[in-house]
Amino acid sequence: MNNTFDNREGWIWMNGSFVPWKNATSHIINQGLHYASAVFEGERAYNGKIFKSKEHTDRLFKSAEILGINIPFSKEEINKAKDALLKKMNYLNCYVRPIVWRGSAQMGLATNNADIHVAIAVWDDWASYFKIEDRLEGLKLITSPWKRPSPETAPSNAKASGPYVICTMSKEYAEKKGYHDALMLDYRNYVAEGTGANIFFIKKNEIHTPIPDCFLNGITRQVVIGMVQNQGFNLVEKYILPNEIKNYDEAFLTGTAAEITPIKSIDDINYVTGKNTISYKLMNDFTDLVNSSL
Ligand SMILES: Cc1ncc(COP(=O)(O)O)c(C=O)c1O
Repeated sequence: MNNTFDNREGWIWMNGSFVPWKNATSHIINQGLHYASAVFEGERAYNGKIFKSKEHTDRLFKSAEILGINIPFSKEEINKAKDALLKKMNYLNCYVRPIVWRGSAQMGLATNNADIHVAIAVWDDWASYFKIEDRLEGLKLITSPWKRPSPETAPSNAKASGPYVICTMSKEYAEKKGYHDALMLDYRNYVAEGTGANIFFIKKNEIHTPIPDCFLNGITRQVVIGMVQNQGFNLVEKYILPNEIKNYDEAFLTGTAAEITPIKSIDDINYVTGKNTISYKLMNDFTDLVNSSL
């Protein structure tokens, strides 16, 4: 473990300036760590340009607003900081992680005196979130016992750190059983998403995806919806029951980290994968799209 995330060379943008990677620390007594008082983003740069950078910054500010956090920088400052960091780290293709958290000024759940911190880090070793051979063959998913909570129970429109613990538990459940990822149902038992990505199903010219009313309406999801509509598919957002997913031919995940990744199976249901499938073509179309949006 010599390339752990706290032991790297380079720079992190933190609270308005660049600090050496290893010095970008925060005291362990802070509200972000103890009470998940934090929001973050996940973005990707292709050919030196962050894909949908403004949209990600807008979501970061929206997430913060939902948690009552007032980010002490403007959106423009964050956008500039991301671009400057990319240049300083000399990356063309990398993952971008802005994070905002309540610090150490006070403990307990009151936030009236909370100090707000913002940091941005970039790394280039998530070239593929899933292994490239798994992406080509398709992922094996298992249904998680953990559900996405109702929007009255968790801030589902925010990319907030708190609810991610459900995703971590689901991912661990799946990996321990030999699967790549988990399918998460929601509190009503509708199909929701993967642990860190949205889900789509294909049947001939129909592409269906769950309605994002209790989970993140991913930026990739929105891009992919536009892309498949442009290609003439009939895209339908609908509530999907677990016993309906056997009726589809193909399935795939979408997300900044996952991009488009075909699914080979969910529990004992198998989907078609491989070079002659629609999802394989969409995976390549998406790569072309992000690389051409300069
Ligand atoms: C739980 C969850 N759902 C969906 C997504 C997809 O969102 P996006 O396409 O904006 O990355 C992500 C990734 O960030 C995620 O973590």
